[in-house]
Amino acid sequence: MSPASDETKPAMIQHARDGDDEADALPCLSEIVQMFYNGWSEAMAFNRPVGFASRSTRPCYEPGMESAIMTSHTVIAPAGVTFRRLTVDDLDLLREIRAEALQKYPQSFGTLEEDQGGDAMVAAYRHWLSDTILGAFEGQTLVGTAGFYVAPDKRSQHRGHIFTVYVRDTSRGKGVGDRLIKELLALAEPRVEQVHLAVVLTATAAIKTYKRNGFEIYGTDPRAIRIGDVTYDKYLMMKKFR
Ligand SMILES: CC(C)(COP(=O)(O)OP(=O)(O)OC[C@H]1O[C@@H](n2cnc3c(N)ncnc32)[C@H](O)[C@@H]1OP(=O)(O)O)[C@@H](O)C(=O)NCCC(=O)NCCS
Repeated sequence: MSPASDETKPAMIQHARDGDDEADALPCLSEIVQMFYNGWSEAMAFNRPVGFASRSTRPCYEPGMESAIMTSHTVIAPAGVTFRRLTVDDLDLLREIRAEALQKYPQSFGTLEEDQGGDAMVAAYRHWLSDTILGAFEGQTLVGTAGFYVAPDKRSQHRGHIFTVYVRDTSRGKGVGDRLIKELLALAEPRVEQVHLAVVLTATAAIKTYKRNGFEIYGTDPRAIRIGDVTYDKYLMMKKFR
């Protein structure tokens, strides 16, 4: 396999989508990561900085993976983890991971519909799944989520919001959360001018991940949440695309 020249890259992406043999010879994201784990020399044979999986890579279409994500930005995939957009068929998986998040981090997660439970909660999840929720999978197990929406108000169509960012304990610290945010931002950028989120001050890993992806703190929402006798402040964070 030899690296593609810059001039031929866009065409190769198109060919890769069409199943062209030559383009199929290009590495996809997870293959590059595998090379990284195998050793620098193999990775460098591609004449491309490891970890900078660029437009010249083909998307990793896994069998049965309907909505593989084609990235056009710098991103490195954690080994053994696949990413795709969730659909209404993933309702049970979403319910399960959200239940865990709600139980472990009530200060970070929770909506009126989830407090109500039952049909109201299921309807809310179906609504979320009809928009943008990304999932990270290890095998068939959903290990992480990150959601994006734009509020319906006409006057705030330039702003997007990130929510339900969660990675299971066993999959943390290897970049799954980081990759979820990067993928979400790539989807958000053509749609909005800026992205907002709110995060409790105690969620240090989350704050790190957001800052690493260009979010800045623009305010503090004091005592945003009360659970029993304890109150939690939230940082308001924003990333501007333009
Ligand atoms: C925030 C969260 C999604 C990050 O997921 P992740 O897959 O661990 O993300 P990353 O691998 O990109 O790690 C983020 C940072 O936290 C560190 N970290 C996260 N979990 C860790 C662990 N178990 N052990 C050591 N370090 C850990 C990472 O090293 C990284 O720090 P760095 O920037 O100094 O390298 C995850 O910690 C989580 O679900 N937290 C609880 C829920 C929450 O707070 N959600 C945010 C709601 S707004």
